[in-house]
Amino acid sequence: MIKKASFLISNTDYKKCPAPTKPEFAFIGRSNVGKSSLVNMLTGNKNLAKTSGKPGKTQLINHFLIDDNWYMVDLPGYGFAKVSKSIKSTWEKMISDYLIHRDNLVAVCVLIDSRLDPQKIDLEFITWCGENEIPFILIFTKADKQSKTKTLGNVRKFLDAAKEIFGDEPDYFITSSQTGEGKEELVNFIENEVQE
Ligand code: GTP
Ligand code: MG
Repeated sequence: MIKKASFLISNTDYKKCPAPTKPEFAFIGRSNVGKSSLVNMLTGNKNLAKTSGKPGKTQLINHFLIDDNWYMVDLPGYGFAKVSKSIKSTWEKMISDYLIHRDNLVAVCVLIDSRLDPQKIDLEFITWCGENEIPFILIFTKADKQSKTKTLGNVRKFLDAAKEIFGDEPDYFITSSQTGEGKEELVNFIENEVQE
């Protein structure tokens, strides 16, 4: 269980992020998939990360200190069509530089909208993680939005697609920031990883 969480700093450059002395988990995924909402749900603080109904809300690398022990990072989304090409490439470079160079990153949590069939952009992103040897786990979001059967069907389709790429299934969690589903499982997983 997370007992303490505080916002530390926002950056555009991974070099200015807090010294990489604690293990780190970062949240990425398409704009509006629920990254910032997940930060708030996991920490039990609705106001910690800024959320919005409109995509493109988070624009910086945001560090949160958790239990004085590890960093949680809220990243901007990818695949947001409404920003200009030059902003898009600036964001993409900021995120890819961060992911490639951040030495203390234990894993990137790739958030996937559980309402949707596998999306090309998400499969491309995890492929890129594989090519760059960046460990990742999958977090299916917004499970409260449809039936359990529908969620599990979409999860299965995505895992099958990931298996096609990697030969095995990545670790995954099914969550809802509305109901708190998946909170305990995900926090336990991360806490276990940061202890090692
Ligand atoms: P960007 O910062 O723009 O990339 O978006 P984000 O991925 O941080 O998404 P954010 O957390 O801001 O949430 C986007 C919208 O989805 C908001 O309206 C949230 O209330 C809603 N939302 C996020 N998670 C859930 C969830 O688990 N269930 C439901 N029903 N709505 C959710
Ligand atoms: Mg956000």
